[in-house]
Formats: sequence, structure tokens, C-alpha cells
Amino acid sequence: MTKEAVAHRKKVRRRIQRKTTKVHFDKYELYTKAVQSAPNDVVFIRDTFKELKGRNARTYREDFCGTFALSTEWIKLNPRHEAIGIDLDPEPMAYGRQNYLSKMRAEQQRRMKLIEGNVLDPNLPKADIVAAMNFSYFCFKQRDMLKKYFANVHKTLNKDGIFLVDIFGGSQCYDAIEDTIKHEGFTYYWDQTNFDPVTNEALFHIHFKVGGKKIEQVFTYDWRLWTIPEIRDIMEEVGFKKTHVYWEGTAKDGSGDGNFTRVDHGEACESWIAYVVAEK
Ligand SMILES: C[S@@+](CC[C@H](N)C(=O)[O-])C[C@H]1O[C@@H](n2cnc3c(N)ncnc32)[C@H](O)[C@@H]1O
Repeated sequence: MTKEAVAHRKKVRRRIQRKTTKVHFDKYELYTKAVQSAPNDVVFIRDTFKELKGRNARTYREDFCGTFALSTEWIKLNPRHEAIGIDLDPEPMAYGRQNYLSKMRAEQQRRMKLIEGNVLDPNLPKADIVAAMNFSYFCFKQRDMLKKYFANVHKTLNKDGIFLVDIFGGSQCYDAIEDTIKHEGFTYYWDQTNFDPVTNEALFHIHFKVGGKKIEQVFTYDWRLWTIPEIRDIMEEVGFKKTHVYWEGTAKDGSGDGNFTRVDHGEACESWIAYVVAEK
């Protein structure tokens, strides 16, 4: 066979291979890899409770839990820990059951309770810690609705419990931008399509590129961008005794270093993430 014929045959084989190799696309797996660091988050949450209350927390309620990745890590952290996950959407919860819960030991599974329901339900189980992560409470755009949610958390927290939310901001949030981050095997896009200064509302999409193919709008968030002082005011109005802000430290390259400490003041930067923690 001539050199040309061998090269041609290889080319055809590669083309067939490319057509028949199915791209593995698991949106929740990519989401977890791109935006979550559940094992670190639960350590921060555990330590923050201990720092503020001087005792160990036992029950953790994950509002807006999605695939309940944090609850899973909370259970694994300590054999005394119990977790409750709540979400309206059965799809991510089914994913979590299949991919996380089923891999846990029977004894660990017994310490996990999952509720397909609304975080506004006044009869939610009580907990030492309630957390609303990945800015999920931004879906409440009216002050009255956010206040109703915070009041429900206050009511359904154990005496001496804490409520923890994350929040983001910075001058970049007021621009329509698309952030691109390359990960092993895929690219993650955080796409802000608009910002309305009259309502403080913004629309965000997550896109992924896998195997050379970009899949648009895998997740979409229609949010109001709340500020730290607004959040603290509402928490105090519904009865929380104290609120604290934990601000992220800065790495050498100017990005966040993943370490959060309690502060009275932040610093102006293009983009920041913080935790607001309220004590009952
Ligand atoms: C941004 S995702 C966050 C998922 C997860 N907490 C995380 O950290 O990745 C928001 C989730 O909130 C859920 N959700 C929205 N409104 C809700 C409500 N009123 N009650 C319960 N879950 C709600 C959605 O179904 C969705 O799974």
C-alpha cells in the first residue's frame, strides 16, 4: 500500500471514531466540578458554628439543595451529623439519590432526610444550621418575599442556631460579561446577559463546552442582586440577634484564596464572594 493510501485510511478511521465516540455530558457532574467545593464548604460551616456558639452543630439543613452535595459532605464529616435537603425540583434530587446517596453506607443514608418541597413551608424540620448556598435566595426578588423566607428560617432554626448564605458582588456584576474557565475535559462559561440598574435584576446562564461542542444555557438564573447591608438589615428585622460577614482573603495573583475571615469592612474589587452569617 502506498504512503498516501495508508494516510488516507488512517484519516477515514479517525473520522469514523470521532463520529461513533459519544461525548459524555452530565450537567450536574460538570456543575459540581465547576462551581462547588462542597468538602471545603462544610468544614467552613462546621468551624463557623463552633466559633460562634462554642459547641458542635449536629443538624444541617440545606435549603435549595439541588443535588444535595453539601448535605452529603456534612454526613461524611462526622458520624453524629444529620442533614436535611429541600428543593422544589425532583430532577437534581433524583440525580443526588442515584449518584451520592446510593454510594453512602446504610447508616449514613439513615442520617439524611430529603424533602421535595418549598423553603417557604412553615413546617420544615428544625436544624442547628440552615444554609442557602450558591446565591439561591437571589430568586426572591421582592423584599417582602425575601423577608418571608428569612423569617421562616428564623422560626425553623433550633434555639441558638445559625443561618448562613453566600453572596457575590463587585463592579463586574454591573456589566454584561462572559467568564470562561478551562477545566480538565471541559470549559465552563458564566454568562451575564444583562443588568438592570432600576431593579438590580440580572440574568445569568451557565454554558459548557465538552468534546469541542458548546452546549448553551444548561442552567439559567433570573436573580435580583442583593447587597450585604440589605441582607443584614432583613435578617435583623426578622429577629436574628447578630449578623457577621466573612470576607475572602486574596491570593498572590489577586484572586480569592478560599479563606474567609470575619470582617467589619470589605474592599472594593471587581468581583468578590462573601458569607453572611446570622445568629438566632
Ligand atoms: C442555584 S440552584 C442551587 C443548587 C445548590 N444549592 C447548589 O449549591 O449548587 C437553586 C435551586 O433552588 C431550587 N429552588 C428554587 N426556588 C425554591 C423554593 N422556593 N424552594 C425550594 N427550592 C427552590 C431550584 O429547584 C434549584 O435546584
